[in-house]
Order: sequence, then structure tokens, then C-alpha cells
Amino acid sequence: MSLEPIALQQLPKDLDLQRLPQHVAVIMDGNGRWAKNRGRPRIMGHQKGVDILKNLLYCCRDWGVPALTAYAFSTENWGRPSEEVEFLMTLFERVLRRELEEMMAENVRIRFVGNLEKLPQSLQSEIAKAMQDTEANSGIQFTVATNYGGREEIVQACRAIASKVEQGYIQATDIDEDLFEQHLYTKGLHHPDLLIRTSGEMRISNFLLWQMAYAEIYVTDTLWPDFDRSEFHRALLAYQKRDRRFGRVNI
Ligand code: IPE
Ligand code: IPE
Ligand code: MG
Repeated sequence: MSLEPIALQQLPKDLDLQRLPQHVAVIMDGNGRWAKNRGRPRIMGHQKGVDILKNLLYCCRDWGVPALTAYAFSTENWGRPSEEVEFLMTLFERVLRRELEEMMAENVRIRFVGNLEKLPQSLQSEIAKAMQDTEANSGIQFTVATNYGGREEIVQACRAIASKVEQGYIQATDIDEDLFEQHLYTKGLHHPDLLIRTSGEMRISNFLLWQMAYAEIYVTDTLWPDFDRSEFHRALLAYQKRDRRFGRVNI
């Protein structure tokens, strides 16, 4: 299934197909507040957040955005109450098991990035299966950052490169930006063009520090569980109005 014919049919008329971001990254924030506003436990917000993520994935697919990366769990999120952490780990596993068949049918390529070895063993198995099964899928590239930290990603890349130098596979002078990128979790993925953060927080919370160098940042007060297609539409409209100079001058 190719992305373009669907996009041509469904893309809202005020969006320019030629100026769509090639990779959208989202910091899905505000689940807890969303639940609290309704007098419900925080985990209800996480549960609803999963449906919203699935909607956004299909919206990207329908409109012709070829890659979506979602921040699901940071290296700092282990500091939350253990019941919430356990709920999230179980939720990730349950959702993966439930959705894999559909993701296959929809030709979605799933990747997980982060320090996956620290995740519960049963979740690691589901992740490995999802990555393997969808490896040859040629549709939307869907990446989930789980136990992900931008600093940790950079440090592990340095360690891997240093070890290659130590063993004599490469010289220190071989290290450049391209080689460095080859050692990041996101190797092979286009850098995000657009970063969306929900819930109004003006920070990146250790997400894709290297990759975000020239991403356009869009922050909305909308809480993640309310981030629907019309919200995404608004974000894309804002993105298409940006003047991306990359340090140069536009005359
Ligand atoms: C984001 O929502 C989901 C995760 C970090 C897993 P939060 O749980 O951070 O929700 P708020 O920010 O407390 O409202
Ligand atoms: C960022 O949200 C992490 C994820 C969305 C997974 P947080 O809620 O953890 O970030 P802070 O604590 O507000 O910076
Ligand atoms: Mg939060």
C-alpha cells in the first residue's frame, strides 16, 4: 500500500501535500491531568491515550505523513509511583499483543527505541516480535520511545564508538555526524520535522535531543487524550506557516 493515493483523497484542502512533515514526533503529555479533571485515576488517562495514539497513527497514514514517533515512557518515568509504572508496562504489552495483527494488515512498520533491556521480560518479547514481524512492512514508520532518554542514547552511542576505536575498527578521526548517527537508537530514521507536545509544557523532557536539532516545535494546551484529528490538522497548518531557514537567510 503506498501512502500517496490515500493522502490525495483525504488530506484537508487547506494543507499542502508538498509541505507535509516527513516525520512527526509527539510528546504525549497530560494523561494524568485529563483523568484528574474527570475525577478518575491517572491510569484512565493513559488508557485513553492509547486510542488517541492509534487515531493519530492512522491520520498520519491517511494524510501522507510517512513517519510518526511517540514518546511513551522516559528514563525518568521510573520515578513515578510503582503502581503507575506497572500499569504502564502491562498496558504497553497488552496493546502490542492486541494490535499487532491489525498493524500487519495495515502494513505498519513498528520500531521501539530506548534502553529496552531494562523493560520487563514479557514486554521485551512482545516488542521483539512486533519489530521482527513488521520489519518488511513498507507503510508508515511507527516508532515508540520506551524507556527512552536522549542523554542515555547519546552516551551509549559514545560508548559503542569508543569501543570500536579501542579495538582498532575505526580511528578517532573517522568520527563524524554520520557515523555518530549510525549508533543512535533511531538509526535509519529521518530526523523529525515537527515536534508536537501536548498539555502546554514548554520543554522537551529528554526526548530525541540529537535528532531535534532543527525540528519545528508546536506546543498546544490540549491534553493528550483530547488530541484528535482536528488538533493534528491545526498543528500541521501551523507547521506549514513556519519559515524553516536552517541557519540560512531566505531572500
Ligand atoms: C504522559 O502523561 C504519559 C506518560 C508520561 C507516560 P502524564 O502521565 O505525564 O500526564 P500529566 O503530565 O501528569 O498530566
Ligand atoms: C514526558 O512527559 C515523557 C512522556 C510523555 C513519555 P513527562 O510528564 O514525564 O515530562 P515532565 O516531567 O513534565 O518533564
Ligand atoms: Mg506529564
